[in-house]
Amino acid sequence: MATAVYPGSFDPVTLGHLDIIERTAKMMDHVIIGVLQNNSKTPLFSVEERVNMLRSVTSHLDNVEVMSFDGLLVDFVHQNHANVIVRGLRAITDFEYELQMAQTNRVIAGDIDTIFLTTNLKYSYLSSSIVKEIAGYGGDIDAFLHPMVAERTREKFRERMTAGKHQ
Ligand code: PNS
Repeated sequence: MATAVYPGSFDPVTLGHLDIIERTAKMMDHVIIGVLQNNSKTPLFSVEERVNMLRSVTSHLDNVEVMSFDGLLVDFVHQNHANVIVRGLRAITDFEYELQMAQTNRVIAGDIDTIFLTTNLKYSYLSSSIVKEIAGYGGDIDAFLHPMVAERTREKFRERMTAGKHQ
């Protein structure tokens, strides 16, 4: 059985991520979305919020499950009896970092392969960071996110503004 892990920060999940998840789900028997818990970046959403949003936007995909992980990605892949890591490649600028990760992972876990899917051209410019920047300035993020995720993102920034005013 081919089980793939699609890892990331997903802060928040974008339509670009969702496109990769849907395409991977068609190719693999089982897909585990691994949400990184302890990232050096300070996330906008807690890991529970990111996992819940991912569960909700992938609920139509029977062979996809969402879990959080901490520590090394290859350990998470082994623990879940998976053999493939999937990553999306948007542009050449992603390549160096992705190649470094894939090669390092292969040295520390020779039984795991990384496969890359080129992102849908429609989303080739898209990243969670850009979406957060736009949302932070009150811009329109509806073209980039599932409607529920877009609403949660707007709410987060509204909460932050309110909290900021009371400091
Ligand atoms: O969405 P991101 O932030 O680009 O995803 C990066 C991620 C989660 C795939 C990467 O940071 C990761 O695998 N972190 C876990 C720690 C680890 O295994 N590091 C060594 C990778 S070479």
